Amino acid sequence: MAVKTKASFSARVRADALILPFFEGKKPSFKAGSLASLCGSPLKSGDFSGKKGELLIHYVSTAKDKRVVLIGLGREKELTCEDLRRAYARALNAVKSKAKSVNVQLPETNCDFTTAACEGVLLSRYTFDENKTRKEKTPTDITFLSADPKGVKETEKLCKSVAFTRDLVFNNADVITPSFLAHMAKELGKKHTNVKTTVLGRKQIEKEHLGLLEAVSRGADEEPALIVIEYKGDPISKELSALVGKGVTYDTGGLSLKPTSGMITMRDDMGGAGAVLGAMHALCTLKIPVNVVAVIGSTENSIGPSSYKIGDVYTSHSGKTVEVTNTDAEGRLVLADALSYVQEKFQPKRIIDLATLTGGAVVALGEEVSALMSNRDKLSEDLIRAGEETYERLWRLPLYEEYNKLLESKVADIKNAGERKATAIAAGMFLQKFIHKKTEWAHLDIAGTAFPDSLKPYHPVQATGYGVRLLVRYFQNLVQ
Ligand code: BES
Ligand code: MN
Ligand code: ZN
Repeated sequence: MAVKTKASFSARVRADALILPFFEGKKPSFKAGSLASLCGSPLKSGDFSGKKGELLIHYVSTAKDKRVVLIGLGREKELTCEDLRRAYARALNAVKSKAKSVNVQLPETNCDFTTAACEGVLLSRYTFDENKTRKEKTPTDITFLSADPKGVKETEKLCKSVAFTRDLVFNNADVITPSFLAHMAKELGKKHTNVKTTVLGRKQIEKEHLGLLEAVSRGADEEPALIVIEYKGDPISKELSALVGKGVTYDTGGLSLKPTSGMITMRDDMGGAGAVLGAMHALCTLKIPVNVVAVIGSTENSIGPSSYKIGDVYTSHSGKTVEVTNTDAEGRLVLADALSYVQEKFQPKRIIDLATLTGGAVVALGEEVSALMSNRDKLSEDLIRAGEETYERLWRLPLYEEYNKLLESKVADIKNAGERKATAIAAGMFLQKFIHKKTEWAHLDIAGTAFPDSLKPYHPVQATGYGVRLLVRYFQNLVQ
């Protein structure tokens, strides 16, 4: 898999396909010497005019080109990054199984547009065929024709991190176990001198009184893990951010067993952990100057003779007691201990947690946007902005004090699940009980976005890798 850049259109070498962008009502801005031989007839005949969404494959036989994929970007003034992602993704998809090598002309306008167009190509080139006997075809050599090789290189790194997350979320739950996630986290530590990974296993989880994580893990043979990754990208600064991820590698619901229809996608229930790992992968490969500690609480939520019990009370790492009214509301239990642990050990200024936490978030917002809950306006606004920029969008839900009554328990400090009302918010309220007032905190419920049924052109598989680009952009904006 090679990604290259050539500084100009005329410097391209022979490839199986050439992707060429056009604005509506405008001559191409790239300096194309022999455009007439490449796309003269479609343009002259009016078959192609550069309208948004237009795509035309045109066969030619020049010394360098076999197929030309013309893509319409619409009016230049109205162009958005998401238009570019989709247009370039469609173009790549149109030749994905046929072309081994592809030249891609980027719109030479600004660097955000370069990034978005590259993302469109590289995110849709992704395949996951580990579990297929017939391997999928995808271009091996991609050459971007662009005057911004640095921008291309960085986007390539970013997209590798997204692919890293997709691989984790899409693969079998029997492969992506808590110890496998721990292994991947340790690999990061081995590769980068400014990354340190520590993993607590079952014994240490007990010793550290992570009672909720321990309770959830009891039905499983797989050993649970609390994974801690420390990234020091800015050694001079004392500022520390934390990322916390839900790493439930399979969610059967436990004794509150899910029906088949609800369980079939539950290998995605480590989507939050996947996003956190991918974001850490990106922060260190892109060398973003921030200090971030990531904590992942990982276990299967299985069912067995030792399963934690509906109606029993368990003591959390924070000391708060929790009546488990539903063992399928396991994510908030795992997260609560991880949140409490990271605050005690590291005192981060801010925490962002990501979790495929509730069906309620999917009911409320569908698959287009994740639910955001937070105790700070500024942090919310910054995340929402990064979400708009990356199109990994966020919509804020309230954490009004009155919602606390959803979690009142007669036998413990709180219960883990209420009835049908406001379940996404109730989960957020639950987590907030484990957040110190001084900690800036945001919770992202990515149940609808991590593994959606309906896919965007640059989502070749259900695992979107949601969260990686969002978090990276958030930190990039933070240091700018
Ligand atoms: N992992 C699920 C949430 C989920 C649902 C993620 C659909 C992705 C798609 C979570 O652990 C869960 O089961 N939540 C319950 C909570 C309820 C029992 C309060 C839910 O949302 O139904
Ligand atoms: Mn569950
Ligand atoms: Zn779950």
